[in-house]
Amino acid sequence: TAPLRIAIAGLGTVGIGLIRILQTHPQMIAARAGRPVEIVAVSARSKGKDRGLDLSAYAWEDDPVALARRDDIDLFVEVIGGHEGPAKEATEAAIAAGHHVVTANKALLAHHGNEIALAAEETGVALRFEAAVAGGIPVIKALTEGLAGNEIARVLGVMNGTCNYILTRMEDAGLTYEEAFSEADGLGYLEADPTLDVGGIDAGHKLALLAAIAYGTRVDFDAVELEGIGSVTIEDIRQAADMGYKIKLLGVAQMTGRGLEQRMSPCLVPDTSPLGQLEGGTNMVVIEGDAVGQIVLRGAGAGAGPTASAVIGDIIDIARGLRLPAFGQPAASLRRARAARAAVP
Ligand code: NDP
Ligand code: HSE
Repeated sequence: TAPLRIAIAGLGTVGIGLIRILQTHPQMIAARAGRPVEIVAVSARSKGKDRGLDLSAYAWEDDPVALARRDDIDLFVEVIGGHEGPAKEATEAAIAAGHHVVTANKALLAHHGNEIALAAEETGVALRFEAAVAGGIPVIKALTEGLAGNEIARVLGVMNGTCNYILTRMEDAGLTYEEAFSEADGLGYLEADPTLDVGGIDAGHKLALLAAIAYGTRVDFDAVELEGIGSVTIEDIRQAADMGYKIKLLGVAQMTGRGLEQRMSPCLVPDTSPLGQLEGGTNMVVIEGDAVGQIVLRGAGAGAGPTASAVIGDIIDIARGLRLPAFGQPAASLRRARAARAAVP
């Protein structure tokens, strides 16, 4: 069977984690994908950097856009990061070239997901991004497949490993904010711009994506009410503990009479509750569906292995020929919106 030929843009925490899985389990992946998955070419900023793996079998491109346009690939993996610049340009170039795309980039999709999903749908390629929300937890698959027959009442949870790590280490180990932050950095949890993590913005990106999937709407990151953990002090954490609570950066999305509400902010949760017990870089997503009731998903929300686990799952789905719309019905709703605008004299 013809292999699925992939290119990987970004050889940092996630990119190297992905290559490690592909190099470790080629037969298992080929068996599950129905065909071999072959890395053809890669790209990063510095060619000479020692990344702890043998990359000599793969072609090198300095420019991720040139990588995305190669005619010897079927699928482009974007794990560079950032919502403008090379990640966006390369993703758009890959779709225009007719290549499937797998990305872990929630910032890109929170800002430009509607347009990118529309381009993918119109070009007939898959756009998958399981790793973009809650790292290793297959929450997008849960919503789009297993829970597809449910009307969703509410989606909520802890969706940023860095913030959860910092808050729990400050409480449990008495670390200062700076010490806990530095440990999170060492574990590969931080965004390239960590103000996205501690400002609640990264978690807000994820909530906006989940909400769009859960409610079949367009992604509307600007509508997320956001507050990060920057103002949470060790004194706040101690006072909460005295009252039997923990402070968690909690996101909630729900449909109300006033429309879709999306909120991400530090909240008090009982310390004996499942959310209160959530430690380190762990994430938890709670989904409430009308038929299923409450589903709780818990697992590693960041780091090389967990994030790459989600990326390889998407690649295997595409190799198997699985096609799902990215958000609700993006193309249909965008076309309607455009037609409505065009109809205004
Ligand atoms: P890193 O910062 O570890 O890696 C980024 C990679 O992109 C590096 O290899 C870097 O090259 C490369 N790069 C940066 N700029 C360019 C450019 N202009 N051209 C070509 N290559 C470039 O990021 P992560 O692996 O942590 O994250 C990647 C993506 O995955 C982000 O979107 C992030 O939000 C997302 N993500 C990350 C998770 C995590 O736990 N780390 C979890 C879930 C999602 P070089 O190495 O040479 O500097
Ligand atoms: N910086 C993110 C976090 C990575 O800490 O959760 C995973 O998306």
